[in-house]
This record gives sequence, structure tokens and C-alpha cells, in this order.
Amino acid sequence: LARGDLPQDLAGRHVVVSAGGTREPLDPVRFLGNRSSGKQGYALARSAAARGARVTLVAANAALPDPAGVDVVQVGTAVQLREAVVKAAADADAVVMAAAVADFRPETYATGKIKKKDGEEPAPVALVRNPDVLAEIAGDRTRPGQVIVGFAAETDDVLANGRAKLARKGCDLLVVNEVGERKTFGSEENEAVVLGADGSETPVPHGPKEALADTVWDLVAQRLS
Ligand code: CTP
Ligand code: CA
Repeated sequence: LARGDLPQDLAGRHVVVSAGGTREPLDPVRFLGNRSSGKQGYALARSAAARGARVTLVAANAALPDPAGVDVVQVGTAVQLREAVVKAAADADAVVMAAAVADFRPETYATGKIKKKDGEEPAPVALVRNPDVLAEIAGDRTRPGQVIVGFAAETDDVLANGRAKLARKGCDLLVVNEVGERKTFGSEENEAVVLGADGSETPVPHGPKEALADTVWDLVAQRLS
């Protein structure tokens, strides 16, 4: 890992990164999930650690090795992720929400495996809303000067949707990715625009997820100083 040339501009800082995708169980063997690999969040955690930060990585179902020197908190569901992020955010200088958090969860959990019955149609799955972790921590602002970063994957009207989402969530920065059938999920590379609440727009050309991670921390470090 030849990254000794990185600035130590996050030394003395505590940063929280969420990564991966939450899984919302229906029964002991099934869940509602999403395609997030966790690679971007892990790259963010490694980059912050390399720049001197104390890093808490809240990891949801990412089949990736723990980054060296990072505190990893494993979670499964959106509710568990919320608890871990809110707790770690209490003394954090920055929080980056790279995790794909399920918007909904099944209203009920079947403690035994759901079985099909001959001649019977399946019961519909009722869903309820999950907490919006990003909006909550951006609204609370437990620490003055705390920098809050969100991620958004959009398929259409990427910039307009991104601007609206940044305002709705109340975060300082929003990393907007365009996604499609073959873009982003599970891939090693990424392409994005980072929108700032101050009206700034930072394009990040197609490249490794490490490069996007470094740009995010550049923008966070600017706002912390
Ligand atoms: N997020 C969150 N809690 C949720 C949903 C999303 O903290 N329940 C965070 C994600 O981690 C991400 C950001 O919010 O950083 C944007 O997620 P996205 O799914 O794009 O936003 P939504 O408000 O859920 O909008 P949409 O209806 O487009 O899914
Ligand atoms: Ca969503």
C-alpha cells in the first residue's frame, strides 16, 4: 500500500463511514436486500485511515476484509445501522454515509420459514419505512462543525435529483453517481459529481474508488479546517 505520500490532514480527527447494504429479514432464511458491494465505503475507510484519522466503519453485509487500523462495527439491518452510526457520530468530526440503506422493511418477521401451500397464492409482503439515518444525523448536528456526507445513486436527471436530495437531507456534501445496468455495482471503478451545500460542484472522472474516496476527504478536510 504505497500511499505514504498522502497528507496527514485527518490526524486527530474521528470519522465515521457506513458501507455495504442493509438486509431486511422476512424470515430466518430470506431478506430484502440491494446490490451494494461495500467497496466504495471500504475505500473511504482505508483512505481516511491513511490520512491519519481514527475511523469507525459501520459495515452492513459487505464480504470484504477489515481494513487495517479501522474499528469495524458489523450490522445487518437499517435499524441496527442507525443505532451504530448515531452512537459513533456523537464524537465524530465527519460522517460519510456510503451504505445503501433499505428504505423499507417487512412489517412483520416470521420466526419460522415461510412455506408455500398447494393451491394457495402467496400472501403480499407489507412494508414499513425505515429511519432515514442521513437526514437524522444532519438534522441533529451533535457537534459544531461536523461535516456530513451522503451518497446518491440516480438513473435519471442526475444533477437535478442530486441537488434536491442534498437540500432534503440537509447534508454538507452529496456524492452523486449515475447508475445503470452495468455501472457501479460491484465494480472497481466509479464516476461521480460531488455537490456541496455551498453550491460547489466537483466532478470526479471515471477511475478507481480510491480516487473518489481521496476527493471526498479533500472536500471534508477543507470544511473541517
Ligand atoms: N440513507 C439513509 N437512510 C435511509 C436511506 C438512505 O441514511 N433510510 C442515506 C444513504 O446512505 C445515502 C443517502 O441517504 O447516503 C441517499 O440515499 P438515497 O437512497 O439516494 O436517498 P433516499 O432519500 O432514500 O431517496 P430515494 O427515494 O431516491 O431512494
Ligand atoms: Ca433510498
